[in-house]
Amino acid sequence: MPAIVIVGAQWGDEGKGKATDLLGGRVDYVVKPNGGNNAGHTVVVGGEKYELKLLPAGILSPNVVPVIGNGVVVNLEALFDEIDGLNARGADTSQLRISANSHLVAPYHQVMDKVTERFLGKRAIGTTGRGIGPAYMDKVARLGIRAQDLFDESILRQKVEGSLRQKNELLVKVYNRRDIGVDEIVDYFLSFAERLRPMIVDSSLLLNDALDENKVVLLEGGQATFLDVDHGTYPFVTSSNPTAGGASVGSGIGPTRISRVVGIVKAYTTRVGAGPFPTELFDDMGEYLQKTGGEFGVNTGRPRRCGWYDSVLARYASRVNGFTDYFLTKLDVLTGLDRIPVCVAYDVDGIRHDEMPITQTDFHHAEPIFEYFDGWTEDITKARTFEDLPGNAQSYIRALEKLSGTRFSAIGVGPDREQTIVLHDLITG
Ligand code: GDP
Ligand code: IMO
Ligand code: MG
Repeated sequence: MPAIVIVGAQWGDEGKGKATDLLGGRVDYVVKPNGGNNAGHTVVVGGEKYELKLLPAGILSPNVVPVIGNGVVVNLEALFDEIDGLNARGADTSQLRISANSHLVAPYHQVMDKVTERFLGKRAIGTTGRGIGPAYMDKVARLGIRAQDLFDESILRQKVEGSLRQKNELLVKVYNRRDIGVDEIVDYFLSFAERLRPMIVDSSLLLNDALDENKVVLLEGGQATFLDVDHGTYPFVTSSNPTAGGASVGSGIGPTRISRVVGIVKAYTTRVGAGPFPTELFDDMGEYLQKTGGEFGVNTGRPRRCGWYDSVLARYASRVNGFTDYFLTKLDVLTGLDRIPVCVAYDVDGIRHDEMPITQTDFHHAEPIFEYFDGWTEDITKARTFEDLPGNAQSYIRALEKLSGTRFSAIGVGPDREQTIVLHDLITG
């Protein structure tokens, strides 16, 4: 069987966790290919709510092997806290496997994240403060500590020394903070080594073998297209590649083995942290979407900025990811609105743009051009087929689909796994 990728199509929190969970019963492996504990996925199973940060949402499905890929940056303290929390609620995490090549988030990465944000002042990114950017910086600078380093103390010590030498200079001389001792960090890492050891694998080998055996592998991307360091609204992005290509790199599964790429897109738009957001609402409507949609971050508790659906973003996401399907989530949140605006293009300094402007400057000046659709008042949370939806909801979906560049294969009408309308099978197409 080929692999399937799930990708956020906007700025995150589209409901990727729910989509993974929905497919959980039909897949054998769920892999997290990028990001770290900056993610926050809420999954509701039979009324029970789970909040996942570092672990892929597939961990909640029995018989699924959850895998943390080489592209992830792992905070071991957060990892074991999350595992313990799930175990206390009766979830089985014993199958979890972690790539030997995944990088580790060190306490100094979190310190660097906070001090660099403070230093940026007005230009701060609004990161989650989890040390994600600095951990990826070390990876690319070839100063990172990988999971496998915990099993060779002398190598670990050398690497920690190498990484801290430069950071301590910065911390003390630039940021006016105390320096960090090598022993402190080595001891911190070693305290997790024995618990980590049985989980460590060559995840590329494991997953390719599984594909050879006809198993179904789901790659659950963290973050989203517009937070991608290459394709997103740089510099207001995360430091990994949450787009579909990143899922291949971050798991060691070649692109030829991926058959479906499913974009998860909310029926409106949200964003946490700083950066441009053309359809953002600053009035009561923004507050209404925030309240009705429960738009508060799982990870940091920050309120999410809210705005209308932006089909320019959706077309761009379709293209850079090569989506085969869209999963439209949170349609139920729009119930009760008289009319629903949808951004179809931008006005940039008097010129119409049907596609994303090329430059950051133009995107910052983009004003949405809206089309308006009639709303509906009927409760749609119990709809399970397209025909169960009111006519206006059907028209809204069909209009969005036409504007978004990829067919809509599933519609979310509530947070629960069951509250989904499936139009095309997300695994077989
Ligand atoms: P993720 O980071 O992409 O996994 O998304 P989050 O979990 O951060 O945010 C999505 C939120 O929307 C969660 O609270 C989900 O339980 C909820 N959710 C997902 N799909 C739907 C839906 O179709 N309707 C409603 N009302 N809530 C949904
Ligand atoms: P999920 O997987 C929403 C945002 C942060 C910040 C920027 C950089 O739940 O969709 P970072 O800590 O990654 O360096 O922060 O990226 N961000 C997210 N926003 N959902 C997420 O994950 C996010 N992960 C990072 O708010 O703007
Ligand atoms: Mg989230």
